Amino acid sequence: MYTFSNSVKKLRSSEIRDLMSLANKPGMILFSGGMPDNDMFPLDEIDAIYEKLTPQEKKIAMQYGPTSGLPQLLKSLTLFLEKKGLPVSENKLMITTGSLQGINILAKTFVNPGDTIITENPCFIGAVSAFNSYEANIVSVPLTDGGMDVDKLEEVLNNLEEKPKFVYLTPNFHNPAGTLYSAETKHRLIELLDGRGIPIIEDDVYSDLYFNEEDKEDLRTFKEINPKGIDICYTGSFSKIIGPGLRLGWMLVPEAIYQKCELIKQAIDACSPSFTQVIADKFLQSGMADNYIEKVRIEYKKRAEAMAKVLNELLPDEVTFTAPRGGFYIWLQLPEGVDSTEILQIAIEKGVVFVSGKTFDPHGVKNNFIRLSYCNTSVEKINEGIPIVVSAIKEVLDAR
Ligand SMILES: Cc1ncc(COP(=O)(O)O)c(C=O)c1O
Repeated sequence: MYTFSNSVKKLRSSEIRDLMSLANKPGMILFSGGMPDNDMFPLDEIDAIYEKLTPQEKKIAMQYGPTSGLPQLLKSLTLFLEKKGLPVSENKLMITTGSLQGINILAKTFVNPGDTIITENPCFIGAVSAFNSYEANIVSVPLTDGGMDVDKLEEVLNNLEEKPKFVYLTPNFHNPAGTLYSAETKHRLIELLDGRGIPIIEDDVYSDLYFNEEDKEDLRTFKEINPKGIDICYTGSFSKIIGPGLRLGWMLVPEAIYQKCELIKQAIDACSPSFTQVIADKFLQSGMADNYIEKVRIEYKKRAEAMAKVLNELLPDEVTFTAPRGGFYIWLQLPEGVDSTEILQIAIEKGVVFVSGKTFDPHGVKNNFIRLSYCNTSVEKINEGIPIVVSAIKEVLDAR
């Protein structure tokens, strides 16, 4: 008889994953998945790229590559990131198998079983699972409209008996909360962490999907601003700007941390897929990426506005949300004590799926929130599905 490892025993199934089985039911309207719309992928561009590859490039695509990534992709990605303002030359860049692998590698780099780390609450479920798999002791700090509650973070830091290994943040268009950190929060957080020797993991997979040019100043990353020289491990991804099927992301980290990460990645998968790295490089190099990102930004904005409009018209006053400024999500706050899983059950019976709040609570408890994704559903379906969500909400609120 076998016994599982302690780390596996701690893992819980994500509600999103369980709900995905319902996605196959015909006619279901899905506000659940955090993935791009199948109908929006740049298929013609990818076909054109593949057709133009030389035999030599195809051989490279079929072969193992360096653990850090194919040199040509590292070069084109460097230009892409530098255009965003990231300090690539003062750090080391590594291609990863999705940014989730980057988060995993960083967790493995820092966390021994029982070590404390700090996350936002709510928090991206993939990161929570990764941290749990290394048996981290997760201490979460609430998110406000402007980003992590810095006063609460200070309180937590002052009360902890041991120094946390890192603080994990998703400052740009948070999953699930949609939040864009204010410049003030970023500066206060940097001031607070200055001199404490606590690195930040900055998870930035949505910043290219902003809706308003005037938000660009707020989109400047911790990694870019960083006046105090804090160790910031920045992770990003091609998943939301080309397609998650590439399974390609990156990490931009200080040299000393990079050395450890490279060793870990070598042990995990030796290298990320060369095939998709060759494609991603051409996509960036040719300028197709800029055009495509511009196109999807417009479509996501249209969908976000459509969803916010119907919600504003129909939601009772006691349910609130902040209109998204980018990314994939609207995060509804219900009155304290309301159980969004009850709402979800009613909504599913009526043909609509979303994700209930506790999925994103690192401690799996707080459930008076709903995550609605607009990324994967047409405006027509949004207009059809949101009234159903609202009627399910009202049914549960009225029964209190
Ligand atoms: C905040 C956040 N980080 C990371 C990821 C993982 O992205 P990837 O496909 O690059 O692993 C996601 C995916 O939904 C996400 O929302």
